[in-house]
Amino acid sequence: MKTKKTITDNTVDPDILRYTVGDDVVLDLALAKWDCMGTAAHVTMLSEMKGLKRPVVTKAEAAKVRKALAAVVKMSDEGRFVIRDDDQDVHMAVERLLTEKLGDLGKKIHTGRSRNDQVAVDVRLHMKDEILAAEGEVCALATELCYFGFCAGAVPLVGRTHLQPAMPSTVEMWATGHAEMILDQIENLEAAYRLADLNPLGSAAGYGVPLPLDRSRTTKLLGFARTVHNCFGASMARGECEAALLSALAQLMAVLSRLAEDMILFSMPEFAYFRLPREYCTGSSIMPQKFNPDVLELVRSKAAQVLGLQTASLSLLHAMPGGYNRDLQDCKWLYMKGLEIARTTLRILAKVVKGMKVDADACRAAFTPGVFATDVALRKVAAGTPWRDAYHEVRDNLGQLDAEDPDAAVALKKHEGTCLGIDHDLYRRRIAAADKSAAARRRALDACCRKLLK
Ligand code: ARG
Repeated sequence: MKTKKTITDNTVDPDILRYTVGDDVVLDLALAKWDCMGTAAHVTMLSEMKGLKRPVVTKAEAAKVRKALAAVVKMSDEGRFVIRDDDQDVHMAVERLLTEKLGDLGKKIHTGRSRNDQVAVDVRLHMKDEILAAEGEVCALATELCYFGFCAGAVPLVGRTHLQPAMPSTVEMWATGHAEMILDQIENLEAAYRLADLNPLGSAAGYGVPLPLDRSRTTKLLGFARTVHNCFGASMARGECEAALLSALAQLMAVLSRLAEDMILFSMPEFAYFRLPREYCTGSSIMPQKFNPDVLELVRSKAAQVLGLQTASLSLLHAMPGGYNRDLQDCKWLYMKGLEIARTTLRILAKVVKGMKVDADACRAAFTPGVFATDVALRKVAAGTPWRDAYHEVRDNLGQLDAEDPDAAVALKKHEGTCLGIDHDLYRRRIAAADKSAAARRRALDACCRKLLK
């Protein structure tokens, strides 16, 4: 049987190797920078380790390694970093490059470390970076929705329940309502961020090593909030982080999908409240009159996909025994795909919302007398009729309801959060605070990266 030699295995059947490597040679490219950062922190810590007869690496050697790692990051930034099949993954590709460049010193960098804690650290750094970017995109979409609402001002919109005409509302309330739900998703992303912000490095294969590793040192160097204390726990947490992020992304996508669904409905000719730019719609190969909102339909389908990815991650985890198992490698594709879908969807929706126009006449024309029924009953209450009697008087005489002025109706709704009670500053403040917090953390992460890889 023909076999292949790799850094870790002398004899692996090529078919088996290809199956076990899977898509890592491609997916791991996204981890290259983070792998170099993790290695720079590990080697720095090794060089500072006290109580050994002879240092594993000296401080001068650690500096050489960091410099070589910076060159690998540059290669990766320029698209010149490749992971070969016989590398198996980013970790071995980086070690190969360092060994080619630094000889025996390159062979020392993996001392006291396993690919298990190495990949866990890479994934967490990558996730932190991606969550911060996603939060920025959440803010950008919320900003577009708020601006859309602000421009429409108090244009009346039929508020619906069960999709049936219900009560007077405004375009502004619709848009900022969606914006608020979308902004709330930052809470879930932040929960995923907090889980990702723990350092598993130094847990090695999941049981520690007989070397005086200073785990809090790498935590500090890499800018993590704290260390995952238990080494076995650190290995167990791989996959859980990914599942938590996918859960946040699945929920976010469900919220985005509901926005997309409203936009599809309200831009239908039968409603015509909103108009999508023609260049954002796609035509039919047979029906010349068609301008279809395919882009928004695909938001719905992508939401279903991300939910599937979350389900896949939990299915993969739930029956897995403790400690590292190779199943975990497959979590990588799931969370990366979930991030890619959610982030692209956020950007696309921001663009579509920005291009969407309101047809104020169509919005007003949609008000049937029934939409004012509750307001009529409340006028009876103001004149002294008990609510339940007023309700029945209106319900028993629905045919007598008159068409009313929708603008006058919405002008009477002023309490917090209703038609004229929307506080735009509230959204502005929330968006600014979220943006500021993400930017500060991004700067801190960049600073760690610069310090380690110079
Ligand atoms: N590519 C692997 C993964 O993502 C790296 C860890 C391999 N560890 C092992 N014990 N085979 O899980």
